[in-house]
Amino acid sequence: MFTLTPETADDWWEVEALYDLCFAPGRTALSSYRLREDVAPVAGLCQVARDRDGSVGGAIRYWPVQAAGVPALLLGPVAVHPTHQGEGLGGLLINASLHAARDSGWDRVLLVGDAPYYSRFGFSKLPDICMPPPTNPDRVLGLALTPGAWDGLTGKVTRAA
Ligand SMILES: CC(C)(COP(=O)(O)OP(=O)(O)OC[C@H]1O[C@@H](n2cnc3c(N)ncnc32)[C@H](O)[C@@H]1OP(=O)(O)O)[C@@H](O)C(=O)NCCC(=O)NCCS
Repeated sequence: MFTLTPETADDWWEVEALYDLCFAPGRTALSSYRLREDVAPVAGLCQVARDRDGSVGGAIRYWPVQAAGVPALLLGPVAVHPTHQGEGLGGLLINASLHAARDSGWDRVLLVGDAPYYSRFGFSKLPDICMPPPTNPDRVLGLALTPGAWDGLTGKVTRAA
């Protein structure tokens, strides 16, 4: 049983520890992290899942970016503690936060990840949107939160102004 709450400043280092546990060493060297440097995450959409004892079981963060010159959300990192993977918590974090993103007026979301996992949430390849190199273009996925929000967009993903 997990409770989702918006991430606060007090949660930051516990979430970092979870990400360090779940991702390969050197995760912050990934090009997606260059889009996050010196930019605040989107308050309210970043969520922490804690069990009854207060332990962090999973977390998700979002950053604002510009994609082809228009605002977009960058989903991630998202991770679930290894002892709780496969129980649906990742899906819960992603669905709940996407819902909140739609409700708060965001039009589009992108991420760098595995299409076989993210397709279940409606994400599909964004062939005309380029993440900073080196990024495998097959892993650049998008979801329109409002109909057609990715249609006709071609260009680079850059840091939010
Ligand atoms: C990816 C992650 C967040 C998923 O969270 P989770 O709580 O384990 O996932 P859920 O329980 O919601 O979903 C489990 C399903 O997703 C599938 N799945 C998980 N990771 C997958 C992946 N990388 N590719 C394809 N399918 C994947 C599982 O096989 C399972 O499939 P099933 O429903 O057919 O049995 C979690 O496994 C994790 O933290 N992994 C390490 C960090 C990571 O890779 N984060 C994502 C970066 S892109």
